[in-house]
Amino acid sequence: MTQTFTDKPPIIIAHRGASGYRPEHTLASYELAIDLGADYIEPDLVITKDGILIARHENEISETTDIANHSEFAHLKTTKIIDGEIKTGWFTEDFTIAEIKTLTAKERIPQIRPHNIAYDGIFPIPTFQEIIDLAQHKSQKNGRHIGIYPETKHPSYFKFIGLPLEETLLLNLQEINLPVFIQSFEVSNLKELSQKTNLPLVQLINDIGKPYDFVIDHDSRTYADLLSQKGLREIAEYAQAIGVHKNLLIPQDVHGKLLSPTSLIIDAHAANLQVHAWTFRNEDFFLPLDCQGNPQREYEIFFNLGVNGVFSDYPDMAVNVKLL
Ligand code: G3P
Ligand code: CA
Repeated sequence: MTQTFTDKPPIIIAHRGASGYRPEHTLASYELAIDLGADYIEPDLVITKDGILIARHENEISETTDIANHSEFAHLKTTKIIDGEIKTGWFTEDFTIAEIKTLTAKERIPQIRPHNIAYDGIFPIPTFQEIIDLAQHKSQKNGRHIGIYPETKHPSYFKFIGLPLEETLLLNLQEINLPVFIQSFEVSNLKELSQKTNLPLVQLINDIGKPYDFVIDHDSRTYADLLSQKGLREIAEYAQAIGVHKNLLIPQDVHGKLLSPTSLIIDAHAANLQVHAWTFRNEDFFLPLDCQGNPQREYEIFFNLGVNGVFSDYPDMAVNVKLL
């Protein structure tokens, strides 16, 4: 396997837990990910009305919870603009943690993962503290350090409504002795975090669009601009890694066939940034044309390219390829 500039094998980050096998962002999903050998578990974080961080990919929670079946919350259904997009449903910031705890999780993509439907309605929505407690407990029990890789979701929005994520995030993390990366698709909250913590930070970069704080600030730069050598050097002033859409490392043609790698991994390493790529999934629906029926092949290609980490919905597959 290609040695990376960190001289370590790539880390396996369980994307929303072992979300290929259990509904995402549940303690069951995180625990299974740990048992399957993941190095890190990844909670996306939003916040409740009473300031508790919980694991959800969006603050509008109808896609991944049973909230639509709770008639007592029907009056809280509403429409908001979140990061420039109109969303209708139920929003975490309108609920207390006690109310959130009456809900259960459900599979986000039942048409692709019908085997997970059996778990709908079973698992509650976890707080970030419960995820930390799980990682600490499993670390002690299994004799290895389980890393935690939280992402701040919609940080500018939550700051604007008076429920900033970052202070609570650092409070939750201050007592733990486990590996941590903190990630964000926005720039300004990572820069602020870099002034308040020595924990490693990850600038997330999508293959389209721009950070939403750039939209708010009328900053004309896009994610593509952050990937220039100048942009990477600027990121390295406040972050230790970039977390990138895998197509930015190896683009695909219109048929999904892999093209030649870009220079991004070389450029990022030259700027002293680790490179973590997302998202790796077993299903053909998500795989490049070259890897149909063979998810192992996709990991091999990206590991050989020199990535320092991968976000995977199936961490057992990622771990197995890493150990080959
Ligand atoms: O956080 C990076 C990776 O998880 C991809 O983003 O949209 O799945 O949170 P998302
Ligand atoms: Ca994420």
